[in-house]
Amino acid sequence: MDISAIRVREERLRADVEALSEFGKEPGGGMMRTALSDADLEARRWFRLRMEEAGLRVREDAAANLIGRLEPKTGPAAPCVAMGSHIDAVPQGGKFDGALGICAALEALRAIREGGIPISHALELLVFTDEEGTHYTGTFGSRAVFDLLAEGEIFKSKGPGRPCLARSLERMGKDPEKIREAVRPPSDFRAFLELHIEQGPVLDSLGIPIGVVEGIVYIDRYLLHVEGRAGHAGTTPMNLREDALVKAARLITALNRIFRSAGPGLVGTVGELSVHPGAFNIIPGKVEMSLDLRSMKKAPLQSARRKLGEAARSVGGVRIEPLLAKPGAKMDPRVMRGIELSCRERGVRWKRMASGAGHDSMTFPACGIPAGMIFVPSVGGVSHCPEELTRWEDAATGAQILADTAARIACGMLE
Ligand code: HGY
Ligand code: MN
Ligand code: MN
Repeated sequence: MDISAIRVREERLRADVEALSEFGKEPGGGMMRTALSDADLEARRWFRLRMEEAGLRVREDAAANLIGRLEPKTGPAAPCVAMGSHIDAVPQGGKFDGALGICAALEALRAIREGGIPISHALELLVFTDEEGTHYTGTFGSRAVFDLLAEGEIFKSKGPGRPCLARSLERMGKDPEKIREAVRPPSDFRAFLELHIEQGPVLDSLGIPIGVVEGIVYIDRYLLHVEGRAGHAGTTPMNLREDALVKAARLITALNRIFRSAGPGLVGTVGELSVHPGAFNIIPGKVEMSLDLRSMKKAPLQSARRKLGEAARSVGGVRIEPLLAKPGAKMDPRVMRGIELSCRERGVRWKRMASGAGHDSMTFPACGIPAGMIFVPSVGGVSHCPEELTRWEDAATGAQILADTAARIACGMLE
C-alpha cells in the first residue's frame, strides 16, 4: 500500500468544519446544537449530503446514528474499519468537539478513496447520537449499537420540561420501541478509530501535534436530591428555616474539599442544579443537582462514593441517586502502534496520554472491538465553551494520521 497516495486536504476539512458550525451557532460564537434539536437535525441533513457526495452509502439507524459505508472494490466485505465521533454539542459549546472528528473521518475517507488504496475491509463513518448526554447519560448512540442501554433509559429525562430520548426520536419520526433495531454484532467491526480535540492543555503546552490515547477515564454520575422545607421568604424567621439551597451549598463545599484532597487522580463536578419551587419569595424546599466523578482508576471513585455518603449524612435530608457508572476503557495497543507508525512515517511527533473526557470510543473496547483515539491540540486547553479552538494545521495533521491508520488496518494491518 502506497501510503503517500493518501493526501488529506486541509482546506476541504476546514470548509466542512466551518460549514457544520453554522448549524446552531449563537451570536456570541457558542454552539447551541444539543442532540436531536432542530439545529442538530439540520446539521445531520447537511452532513449526510456530504457523506453521499463522498461516495458513501448512507443509512440512519433506529438510534438516529448516521452510518456511511465504502465497500472495497473487491465487493462487500466485513468486518469494517469504522471511524467517527458525535455531531451534537454541549450547550454554549465549541465548534470542534465531536464535529472535527466526523469531518476528519469524512476527509480521511475521501483521501483513501482518491488515493486508490486497495482496502480489503469496508470502511464506515459513524456519526453518533447524543454523546454529550443532553437527554440523560451520554454516549447514547454508540451504546445503542451494542445493546448497552439501561432498561427504560430512553424514557428517562433530566427533569421536568426536559425531553427524554424516546420523545426526541418520535419527534423525528422514529419509533422508540424499535430502538434495538440499531443493535449490531461486534463481529461487524475490525476496529474503531476516533479523532478528537484533546480538550485539555497537554499537547498545546508541549507543542506536540498528536496525542495517542492509552485509556479513557472511569465516569460515575449521580443525581443528588436535597430536601428542605418550602416557606414564605418574608414571614419565616431565619432560625425556623430549613432552606434546601443552603443545605446544598454546604454539601457542595464539603464535596469540593473532599475532591481537592483526594489527590490528582480524581475530579468531581456539580454541573447542573435546579431549585424547587424556584421563586424569589419562596424558601427553597428542594434542590436537585448532578455530580460527575472521574478517575483513571476505580479505587478513587469508590472512596469518593463513601465520602459522598458521609457528607450527605452530615448535611441531612440528602438522597443519592446513582445515574451511571461508565467503566474506563483501554485503547488497543496494536491500534496505538498503528497510529504511532503513521506518525513516524509522516515525521509527526506524538505523545501517549490519557483522556479525562468520555468518548464514544469507550463503548467499543467494552464489546471486545479494538479502538484507538487520536488527539489534536486544544489551544489553551479549553473546551466546552465558545473559546474552544484547534489550529487548522493540527486538525489536518490529525486527519492525515487518521486516514493513514484507517487505511493500514483496512489493508490488513491487524491480521
Ligand atoms: O463529558 C465528557 O467527557 C464528554 O465531553 N462528553
Ligand atoms: Mn464534549
Ligand atoms: Mn466530544
